[in-house]
Amino acid sequence: MTLSTKTLDNQLNRPFRYYDSVDSTNDLAKTWLKDVAQAGSVIIADEQVKGRGRKGRTWYTPPNVAIAMSVILKPSPSDLSRINIIGALSVYDLAEHLGCQNIGIKWPNDVQINGKKVSGILPEVVWDGDQLTGVVLGMGINVRNDFSNTEIADKATTLEIEAAKSLDRAELITYLLERIDMWYDRITTEALFITWKNRLNMLGKRIQVEELEGLAVDVEPDGTLLVQDDFKQMQKIIAGDVFIINESGN
Ligand code: BTN
Repeated sequence: MTLSTKTLDNQLNRPFRYYDSVDSTNDLAKTWLKDVAQAGSVIIADEQVKGRGRKGRTWYTPPNVAIAMSVILKPSPSDLSRINIIGALSVYDLAEHLGCQNIGIKWPNDVQINGKKVSGILPEVVWDGDQLTGVVLGMGINVRNDFSNTEIADKATTLEIEAAKSLDRAELITYLLERIDMWYDRITTEALFITWKNRLNMLGKRIQVEELEGLAVDVEPDGTLLVQDDFKQMQKIIAGDVFIINESGN
């Protein structure tokens, strides 16, 4: 079924704004947040033409094939680092719910299925001076994108491929928002952190993160990654792209 205000209105029990095409759902959500949107409000678009990814990359969402949405949240400043985790756990839950196998989280927040990326998450924080206005949890999820003949063909996958069935995006969004609500209620908990840690797919493995190579040893409750370098020094990583370079970890 195509996404529309009507189809979403039947399913979502929260304030939402749906658009056929936008530059970036995160931008619209930030504007709405500044205009005093209620926590839990969500911007959803069918097509996104100037979507932003991590590290200044672009994230194009073609019409009819994916989910581009941004959820407005109002955590306390001390919990900001957990928004990434909530996003990743919720997409993981969705993939599990659909029966996908071999799901993992590539630190910090990429959900992978059979080693290929199915979603990207971009939380953006809005401040008013030193006061936290809120956070926009931007989520892009591949549902039935055609990546063949693209440079990411061997790195990206979709929920329809991995679940081996056709999917209704309004139903996926509804489930995803339920999981976001559930994890958000547990934002301060050990359970949230431990579940995320257990779902990470690179702990105990040799990785490269930016210029550093070493053993991915552990994560801290604020999401920091601990990597032991080749001089046996523990390095704390707060952001970066991780690549597993030796599956055995030896
Ligand atoms: C990544 O680079 O992995 C993060 C991609 C995040 C894309 C989503 S799509 C909805 C929201 N709006 C944006 O402009 N970006 C995020």
